[in-house]
Amino acid sequence: MKSLKLSSGILEELKNGNIISGSKLSNKNNVSRTAIWKKINILKSEGYDIRSIPRKGYYLTGKKECFTPEEIFSELNTKTIGKKILFFEKAGSTNDLAYQYALKNNDEGAVFIAESQTNGRGRMGREWFSPKGKGLWFSLILKPKFNFSDITLMPLLTAVACAETIKRTQDLDVNIKWPNDLLVNNKKIGGILLEMKAEIDKINFLIIGIGIDVNLNTKDYPKYLKDKASSLKIAKGNIISRVKLLVGILENIENRYLRFPGNKNDIIRIYSELCCNLGKMINVETQTGIIKGKAIRIDESGCLILKDKSGKLIKISSGDIIN
Ligand code: BTN
Repeated sequence: MKSLKLSSGILEELKNGNIISGSKLSNKNNVSRTAIWKKINILKSEGYDIRSIPRKGYYLTGKKECFTPEEIFSELNTKTIGKKILFFEKAGSTNDLAYQYALKNNDEGAVFIAESQTNGRGRMGREWFSPKGKGLWFSLILKPKFNFSDITLMPLLTAVACAETIKRTQDLDVNIKWPNDLLVNNKKIGGILLEMKAEIDKINFLIIGIGIDVNLNTKDYPKYLKDKASSLKIAKGNIISRVKLLVGILENIENRYLRFPGNKNDIIRIYSELCCNLGKMINVETQTGIIKGKAIRIDESGCLILKDKSGKLIKISSGDIIN
């Protein structure tokens, strides 16, 4: 995206702390001074405090983080994921936007980000609370070339990438509740919703939707979520950079995705280490009813293996742990 590159180019110069003239910026970026002036105004409207000194140039003040596509693009070090960023102040659901887009376009790696969602969707038809400016609500499009049967491991790959990035960047103990809830201190701080378009044995595209409660305060939560959900800010006690977290997650997903399915065993091993249900007695709500048993392991296709009270092993591919 040329225009995203231009904004990132300008920001990079300004972030060095220099005062830089419009003509220097236009030479460096190979565009007219009018184009620079227009971009600077857009950046200002997005919240960047860019000032100018007559006959000298532009400079950037303030350290407040701006959660903008330019900022994300300029920090991101990936080959495919995030090379196209579509950013919305308000969306219905980023999964829906990505799905509709993928039907008509061939951009693997396009990322849809919303500051707020009015129709955020969770697993099992639940709604996903997505208040403005407080979280990461985003979806990405992948066009996997690997075998159809390996697709069931993509939720695990995503959960591992998110949990690891949060752990590494925030120094928090993150767990995964099967299949892909992200937990901190036993409360849900994030979730993953995978959707796809496929034919009998071919994946047309996969949409990975991720929601992470980053900077919500306790008072931001509606009553029905207060006991179950939490945010990274609540756990850490300070505001967290959404740009850095998002960039880290996208890079981690890409890294694992590019090595997939060669890294299948690694993913299952790390997932199993992070999964807080293994070894415990659990109740799983499935489409056919509630299944009780001890969670034994995650198998090679990402299914949960339970042992019921008669000792029989049961393989569960989808459901919700309710205790
Ligand atoms: C869950 O745990 O139930 C999954 C939640 C997934 C929420 C994200 S937010 C971005 C994307 N858009 C949606 O409508 N849902 C996913």
